[in-house]
Amino acid sequence: MPTLFLSGANRGIGLELAKVYAADGWTIIATARAPETATALTALAAEYQGRITIERLDVNDDAAVDAVAAKHAGHAIDLLINNAGISGGNDPALAIGDFNSFRRVLATNAVAPMKVTLALLPALKLASNPKIFTISSRLGSIGLSNGGKYAYRASKAAVNAAMHALAIDLKPLGITCAVAHPGWVRTDMGGSGADISVQESVAGLKQVADKLTFADTGKFFNYTGEELAW
Ligand SMILES: NC(=O)c1ccc[n+]([C@@H]2O[C@H](COP(=O)([O-])OP(=O)(O)OC[C@H]3O[C@@H](n4cnc5c(N)ncnc54)[C@H](OP(=O)(O)O)[C@@H]3O)[C@@H](O)[C@H]2O)c1
Repeated sequence: MPTLFLSGANRGIGLELAKVYAADGWTIIATARAPETATALTALAAEYQGRITIERLDVNDDAAVDAVAAKHAGHAIDLLINNAGISGGNDPALAIGDFNSFRRVLATNAVAPMKVTLALLPALKLASNPKIFTISSRLGSIGLSNGGKYAYRASKAAVNAAMHALAIDLKPLGITCAVAHPGWVRTDMGGSGADISVQESVAGLKQVADKLTFADTGKFFNYTGEELAW
């Protein structure tokens, strides 16, 4: 049974990813900042008894990341999905209301996925065909950019660049590393006016992840499967 490590599994895209991977027979290490209020994830874990382990994790807490990685270091992780993220609100054109929020967005969306990924490398190396799949955003694509949303765009551009470089450095280890845009999705972050349901987004993301081969390392995919410009 393959193992998935999934950050931000308590709601939104992360919770739906946990549902579809559990239904597909995977073992899941599902992280949440506050497991005590993660009722939907707890119910899912009860449904798939023994296959979903819920770990408390704030991805910005380096010591907590190291501790959870150490706890699972002896067990192969086949797929890491870096999903946890924040929008940090909507910077209007020519203004940034709160530079501390900008720093938090960079930390959560760009620094933390690198920290989590590097901490889990020993467990990824134990898998026969390990994959790292980071949920980014097309708003991080400089090639597709328009104005506004400075913090969020910068954070996703940063994680894209970091994961692209990591993919190159992981080639000798045979680890596939790709990035995906989930669409504009009706979650707390995307809002009720977004284009697609969380089920449609996650069905697409899972298909992309399932089809990933080593030849796809260093690529940026839309949830529909086509490649996106960096
Ligand atoms: N929705 C969209 O339209 C859209 C579009 C493009 C990209 N994305 C990306 O897709 C991913 C998931 O987004 P979503 O729409 O599902 O958002 P969401 O509904 O707001 O859920 C965000 C998840 O990330 C977790 N999280 C936030 N900060 C965290 C931290 N410091 N440590 C650990 N977990 C943390 C949240 O946990 P808490 O419950 O504890 O806050 C929650 O589980 C994000 O990376 C987002 O940038 C979303």
